[in-house]
Amino acid sequence: MKTITLEQQLSEDNRIEMIDFYNEATEDYKFWSHDYNMHFGYFIPFKTNPFKRDTMLNQMNAQVIKRLGISSSKNRLIDLGCGMGATMRYALKQYTNVIAYGVTLSDFQLKQGNKLLQGKNGIIIKENYNDTSFQTNAFDSAVAIESFCHSGHSSLSLKEAHRILKPGGRLVIADAFLKKDKTQLCKGAKHAYQNLCNHWSLEQLANINDYKQNLKNLGFTTIKIEDASFKVAPSVLHVPFAIIGFILKKLLRFKSIKRESLHNLKGSFYALFSGLHMKSFGYYIITATKN
Ligand SMILES: C[S@@+](CC[C@H](N)C(=O)[O-])C[C@H]1O[C@@H](n2cnc3c(N)ncnc32)[C@H](O)[C@@H]1O
Repeated sequence: MKTITLEQQLSEDNRIEMIDFYNEATEDYKFWSHDYNMHFGYFIPFKTNPFKRDTMLNQMNAQVIKRLGISSSKNRLIDLGCGMGATMRYALKQYTNVIAYGVTLSDFQLKQGNKLLQGKNGIIIKENYNDTSFQTNAFDSAVAIESFCHSGHSSLSLKEAHRILKPGGRLVIADAFLKKDKTQLCKGAKHAYQNLCNHWSLEQLANINDYKQNLKNLGFTTIKIEDASFKVAPSVLHVPFAIIGFILKKLLRFKSIKRESLHNLKGSFYALFSGLHMKSFGYYIITATKN
């Protein structure tokens, strides 16, 4: 009989919980983003309207895709943890030479996300981004927006991204990270962190100070880590208004709120609470090239 460690068991439990969470709560994201962006936004003064959330959320897509440095030749792009495929759809709209693949573990996202991609040069597949069935050196570009956190920013995710990228291919990650070791968090930050991980089914957040070395060890070069916390903050401030709006809409329609939706709402609240601990948490855009 195959024996597994307690760590592996917890990781498996988290994955099952995460899949259930996304199968039940993904449709709520329509309230967060008309385009089904399941991430925070990127604010640029005088370019994005801080009161129009989707302009900031789509600007995050634009910022991530810009960093891929897509040329005019055919570009196979993979979105590792693609949600409803919003980033893929954004890339396909910008570049006619892109063929986009997305992976997710949620059946809801697979079905509904592929409906939104109908007639476009993109497809969502049910695969684990830590261990895909794609051939080695298959992709020119890879993105991971707020998805690797579900596997605790594990080396396995980076290793797999490195394997499936062609030499010279680029990976761009946009995600929240810790600025220090978990054990060094103050009481408030620790409370926010534990609840954030619990409510959004995140295994853990990595310490950004270790991440660059991790990428280097796996064979990535020209690694750029940008602190985008202040650019992301205006969209994080939308959270309380979005939560109130969502609840009111449900109440006015005499609809009950699902357990997973409540979990998601609490997670959003703890994301805001974590963001206020600026010495402990940050939002980063990381660009790395496969050697
Ligand atoms: C917060 S959503 C972000 C979705 C998308 N990147 C976006 O920004 O709209 C996280 C996504 O990661 C996916 N995910 C989490 N763990 C995964 C895994 N091990 N393999 C594939 N997808 C995973 C979830 O199914 C979900 O689609």
